[in-house]
Amino acid sequence: MKETNTTASATAPSNIAIVKYWGKKDEQLPVNPSISFTLSKSVTQTDISYQTTNTALEILFLLDGNEKPEFIPKIRAYIQRIKHLLPALETGILTINSSNTFPHSSGIASSASSMAALSMALFDALATSDVNKEPTLSEMARLGSGSACRSTSLGWNLWGRTEQMPLSTDQYAISLNERISPVFQTLQDTILILNSSKKTVSSTVGHQLMENHPYREGRIQQANANTEKLLNILKTDDFNAFAEICEEEALSLHALMMSSKPGYTLLEPVTLQAIERLKAFRAENKLPLTFTLDAGPNLHIIYPQAHSKAIMTFIMIYLRPFCEDNQLIKDEISFNTINK
Ligand code: PMV
Repeated sequence: MKETNTTASATAPSNIAIVKYWGKKDEQLPVNPSISFTLSKSVTQTDISYQTTNTALEILFLLDGNEKPEFIPKIRAYIQRIKHLLPALETGILTINSSNTFPHSSGIASSASSMAALSMALFDALATSDVNKEPTLSEMARLGSGSACRSTSLGWNLWGRTEQMPLSTDQYAISLNERISPVFQTLQDTILILNSSKKTVSSTVGHQLMENHPYREGRIQQANANTEKLLNILKTDDFNAFAEICEEEALSLHALMMSSKPGYTLLEPVTLQAIERLKAFRAENKLPLTFTLDAGPNLHIIYPQAHSKAIMTFIMIYLRPFCEDNQLIKDEISFNTINK
């Protein structure tokens, strides 16, 4: 067999969900639809090289140029799941070199951007030309980490079946960019790093705890209703209606964690203090800002670009002191391009 070497590179953004995916079924399929937008500065860059051999697949993984063998079992499990899409990966030597633009301990989930970037690089190197690129990329990323399927295409994405969108599916995410009004095309996401410690309970365990959760059915109904509502709101300029869903989803996600068996908390007292401060500022100034949370204590402050000046001034004076070592990340939606 003649050995060949193929290389490919890809960059993919992280994303923040407004309607949250929480709970899965079968092979990494969601129990409810979710809606998110991709970020501009929080991205992963991945370079791969693939050498053909006739021996079982060998994997080498480097993060910022340093070998990290502890990540290989997760990558191997992922490759096992995508082998129907990229059968070549049974054999060969695969070297993956990945780096994030955001610090490892920043509280931003790197699994979405890293699994999306890896899927994109593998697809470029190894996919056959007859597959449909966009859905396949998103499906591959989903099989690495559920939320990663919303990171292979920039802007607003919907993942999961919902009546209102005939093309929606649990298998991959679809772009919503065609139906987004101007105000929601410029959203800013300033991420307050309130605590950068490693999570005490992983999202994998959190998803599992939804299987027998006492509020499971109610949650599925709530997420479906919020998906339908948000799909309509994103076509309008109604920021207040958006904020209502955004906060309900963020707080429900953490309420589900607290009411799991066993219950757990990922919020910190400082998260609640920052939320209260934000609400007081909003009540006084009537400015359009809201918040969301991922599976962790760090607060994402969301607002339209047109109000950046006043809201950033507030954040820098009143919210930044809550941050660990004054750390915050000024990110924004990546609608057409990524700013590295
Ligand atoms: O993609 P996972 O398995 O890490 O799950 C992520 C779930 C949340 O980030 C909490 C919500 C979401 O929809 O991104």
